[in-house]
Amino acid sequence: MSVKIVVGSQWGDEAKAKIVDYTAAKADYVVRFQGGANAGHTVIVNGNEFIFHLIPSGIIYPDKICVIGNGVVIDPSALMDEIEELKKRGIEVEGRLFISQKAHLVMPYHKLLDQAAEKHKGKNSIGTTGRGIGPAYRDKAARVGIRIIDLLNREVFVDKLEQNIHAANELLTKIYGYEPLDVDKVVEAFLEFDRKIDPYVTDISILLNDAIKEGKNILFEGAQGTLLDIDHGTYPFVTSSNTVAAAACIGTGVGPTHIDEVIGVMKAYTTRVGNGPFPTEFDDEFAQKIRDIGGEYGATTGRPRRCGWFDGVIGRYSAMINGLSCLAITKLDVLDTLQEMKICTHYQYKNRVLNAFPVDENVLDAVEPVYECHPGWMEPTKHIRKYGDLPSKARAYLERISELVDTPIKYVSVGSDREQTITV
Ligand code: IMO
Ligand code: MG
Repeated sequence: MSVKIVVGSQWGDEAKAKIVDYTAAKADYVVRFQGGANAGHTVIVNGNEFIFHLIPSGIIYPDKICVIGNGVVIDPSALMDEIEELKKRGIEVEGRLFISQKAHLVMPYHKLLDQAAEKHKGKNSIGTTGRGIGPAYRDKAARVGIRIIDLLNREVFVDKLEQNIHAANELLTKIYGYEPLDVDKVVEAFLEFDRKIDPYVTDISILLNDAIKEGKNILFEGAQGTLLDIDHGTYPFVTSSNTVAAAACIGTGVGPTHIDEVIGVMKAYTTRVGNGPFPTEFDDEFAQKIRDIGGEYGATTGRPRRCGWFDGVIGRYSAMINGLSCLAITKLDVLDTLQEMKICTHYQYKNRVLNAFPVDENVLDAVEPVYECHPGWMEPTKHIRKYGDLPSKARAYLERISELVDTPIKYVSVGSDREQTITV
């Protein structure tokens, strides 16, 4: 029996789904515990690409049970689209997908408010995915959110929904100058959703704790990344959920004593999509080069990702906050053609050396990353399946990362296909 968490350890898009897919081969349950359809999780099997936003990527395996925990915020239309798309591709979801009764719903007004607030902020915008994530978690914290369980009681549901739409319409019309939402139309759409979601809803805390008692293997699939965590990330340029490993417990009701391993996924370099500080960011020209080689465009919004060198300060910070047991280093092959690579070992701020990640956004904005240079291996690695077969310079690069982050490397990914994975 084992209970493992795969967690993003930079700013999201670390190719977590690739590592989840690889490790899921031995899992019985694959579980999403936070975030929503802001996530874009890409898995490629035998050249076939799947992009997941809400459903755990383990659904590709015919024998896995997939769970959406209470910590996830669920956009019904995104969920239904994903289920339909999978059905079209021959993947049956019913009987294998279970959704928490306690999960909150992302409503049409959440998406509108997210987009309106971003526009309103102008140059101070966060660069959200526009999927309504912030407003949905805000309603949850304000205790006016609507949960999956509320769908069971039509009267209560309609009552809550009407109240929330009225409140949202006040904001939309008076602050943002938008058209108000039609209450009846929104209510109608939800009653339709209610019928469709019924077969999937269950008490997933009981489901998972029973599975653990039976000795099953559970794999938690994190979304976003540690630096986007609402508490530990680069606030306010973060998402609205806790993205760190501990959130797996809160987002499902599985106690921390059950967790055996936390796998931190990091790219062999760094990317970020959306606004906010990014100390090791490349200049525009070099960023474009890496973006082209690495296909660094968002799976959810299609936005070009910002790119930069591997940041050891962030790596160490992530290892600490998540209690990482091991690392999965992804996209090593993207660096195959570079003559020289840099790794940031620490920051310089005014006359001070910073080894720890600074909390103050203004400090992080102003730090100078201090780099050490590493010679490139200048040969292809995509075909390599054994650690020992990697070029010695590539191993030296990886081993330096491991040393700086103070965590052993367990997996190295050298391509997007399931097969292109090395177990160290
Ligand atoms: P996966 O799971 C990368 C970023 C957005 C924005 C900030 C807030 O694929 O790694 P939000 O819509 O969550 O309110 O946006 O967070 N963001 C992500 N960046 N990967 C993701 O998910 C992300 N989900 C949100 O770009 O900067
Ligand atoms: Mg992604």
